Amino acid sequence: MISIGIIGCGAIGSDVAREADGMDEVDEIYLYDIVEERGKALADELKKARFERVEDFLSRVDVVFEAASQQAVYEYAEKIIEAGKDMVIMTIGALFDDAFRENLIKKAKEKKCKIYLPSGAVAGIDGVKAASIGGLDEVTLVTTKSPEAFGKHFDKRTVLFDGTAREAVKLFPRNVNVSACLSLAGMGFDRTKVKVVADPVIRFNSHKILAHGKFGRLRAEVENLPNPNNPSTSYLASLSAIAVLRKIVNPLQIGI
Ligand SMILES: NC(=O)c1ccc[n+]([C@@H]2O[C@H](COP(=O)([O-])OP(=O)(O)OC[C@H]3O[C@@H](n4cnc5c(N)ncnc54)[C@H](O)[C@@H]3O)[C@@H](O)[C@H]2O)c1
Repeated sequence: MISIGIIGCGAIGSDVAREADGMDEVDEIYLYDIVEERGKALADELKKARFERVEDFLSRVDVVFEAASQQAVYEYAEKIIEAGKDMVIMTIGALFDDAFRENLIKKAKEKKCKIYLPSGAVAGIDGVKAASIGGLDEVTLVTTKSPEAFGKHFDKRTVLFDGTAREAVKLFPRNVNVSACLSLAGMGFDRTKVKVVADPVIRFNSHKILAHGKFGRLRAEVENLPNPNNPSTSYLASLSAIAVLRKIVNPLQIGI
C-alpha cells in the first residue's frame, strides 16, 4: 500500500486522483491546489482523499505527483526530495534550468529518491532513451497544429520554427514539456532539433519524433485529442501520469 500526494487539482491532477481513488494499492491521497476550493471540491468527491498543505502531508506520503505549474516545481521539488520522497513531475519544462535540474538529481541520489518524468503527450520516449545508450546521431521533434492554434491564418503548410529545443521553448512555451522530456531522454536541449509547423489540413495537434542512430531509425507520431477538462492539455498526458502511478505499484515493469 502507498500514500500519494498530488499538487495541482486541474485536468491531470484530477484524473490521477480519481484513478488512485479506485486502486487497491493506494491507501491515502493528499491533495493540494493553490486554488483551495478546487482541491477541496475534488477531495469531497473521493473516498480516500483529503485536502492539506504540502508541508503538512509530506511526512505521510511515499510519492508526490506535481501537476500544477513551473512555479510549483521550483517551490516544492527540493523540499519533496529533501524529505526523502519520490516525485513525479508533469511540468517537465521546469527542468530546462540546468542548474536547478542538476541540483535536484544530486539531491535525489543522496536521498535515494526517484524522480519520474512521464512521457506525457508524446510517444517514442522509450525508444529514444534506449537508443541513446548506443549513440544517437539526430533527434527531431515535429509539432504540427492548425494555424488557429498559433492565432494565425495560412492557406498552406507553413514551418514557423526550425532550430534547437532550447530556442524553441522560448518562442513556443506550449511545447516546453514535450521538448524537455525528449531532450532529457536523448541528446540534450542543444542538440535536439524542433520544428513547429502550422498546417490548415490537420484537425488534431500532432507530435512526431524522428531519431537516427546506431540502433537504426525511429519514427513515432501521436495525434492528440484534448483532455475533456482542459482543451489545451492532451488527454494522453493524463494517461501517461496514471501509467507511471501503476508502474510505481506494479511488480511487473513493462517497457522502460
Ligand atoms: N508532460 C507533458 O506532456 C504535459 C502535458 C500537458 C500538461 N503538462 C503540464 O502539467 C501541468 C498540469 O496540467 P493541467 O492540464 O492539469 O493544468 P490545469 O491548468 O488544468 O491544472 C493546474 C492546476 O494546478 C494549480 N496550480 C498552479 N500553480 C500551483 C501552485 N504553485 N501550487 C499549487 N497548485 C497550483 C492550478 O490552480 C490548477 O488547478 C501544467 O504545468 C502543464 O504544463 C505537461
